Amino acid sequence: MINKNTIVLGIESSCDDTSAAVIQNEAILSNVIATQDIHKKYGGVVPELASRAHQQNIVPVVHAALLEAGKTLDDLDAIAFTRGPGLMGSLVVGTAFAKALALSKNIPLIDVNHLQAHILAHFIDKNDGNKPEFPFLNLTVSGGHTQLVLVKDYFEMQLLGTTIDDAAGEAFDKIGKILGLEYPAGILIDKLAKNGNKDAFTFAKPKVDDYNYSFSGLKTSVLYFIQKQEKLNPRFCEENLSDLCASVQFTIVETLLTKVRLAIKNFPCKDLSISGGVAANSALRQDIIKLGEENNLRIHIPEQQFCTDNAAMIAIAGKLMFERGMLATQEISANARLKIGV
Ligand code: KG4
Ligand code: ZN
Repeated sequence: MINKNTIVLGIESSCDDTSAAVIQNEAILSNVIATQDIHKKYGGVVPELASRAHQQNIVPVVHAALLEAGKTLDDLDAIAFTRGPGLMGSLVVGTAFAKALALSKNIPLIDVNHLQAHILAHFIDKNDGNKPEFPFLNLTVSGGHTQLVLVKDYFEMQLLGTTIDDAAGEAFDKIGKILGLEYPAGILIDKLAKNGNKDAFTFAKPKVDDYNYSFSGLKTSVLYFIQKQEKLNPRFCEENLSDLCASVQFTIVETLLTKVRLAIKNFPCKDLSISGGVAANSALRQDIIKLGEENNLRIHIPEQQFCTDNAAMIAIAGKLMFERGMLATQEISANARLKIGV
């Protein structure tokens, strides 16, 4: 099954970004992403609009990815797509498209787990050739997921902890909305926090057992705090925006790291990595690097374009699955609630 020159097309459509990428062995030749701006108007992803936009975008995005990679459909060894988890309507578009394309070209079809793919993004070729060694600990933080995972092998992942309510990215986005910021607010909070004081306001950190997380309490306490302050000064939020962003960001990052510290202690590994959209956060990146230095751990953070939802991570997962003969059949269907492993 191992082909010296494996070329895989990856397709990602789990949420609000339509993406296609071409990988040759471990090197990404193209990674095209069509972001759906329509959701900004509503302050969050509207599932029905997302699936309609995927349908409009998928053909031009795949076409652009092939063009940029300098490949044609005839060059492909396999087609990998996101089976789940995600929004059902969005997943169905990518699944149906990938199935039809694989059938028409008579090439293997590969169903990728989006959560595994966020982690497998660490195996995309980088200039430094640095890749995590098994076993390693990975924190996946995105708009839909917060998971602390012990990665024993490419496809042997143990879920240590997860969020019991909002995901970390969701917390950034929902708190951003309270602060009057546009969706998705994570990147804006990150930017504004650079000019703010993280100690200006103190928000309680959640107390949740084991390796699990909770972020909805923080959202509520920020909301009540702002409402109270705005009764005294209607311009409170505006006048303290950078400090609020820095304090909220600090609380989220500290909450995330508390459980990572516990996992490092109980599951000794040489490598620690972060993935998912929130891994683009500059405070989290900085603090995780510091944590690595303090604990003599190698730290792995994917390039920014491979942190947020992208098809390059689907393509690398697909390539690794292709080599292992992990293929799908035409009977496969999308699964909105796909889990990461044990
Ligand atoms: O992985 P992703 O693209 O999609 C999901 O699978 O959910 O993650 C998107 C999330 C959003 O919540 C967005 O606000 C957050 O990642 N995000 C950030 C930053 N960039 C993206 N959060 C904090 N700081 C950032 N720089
Ligand atoms: Zn994601």
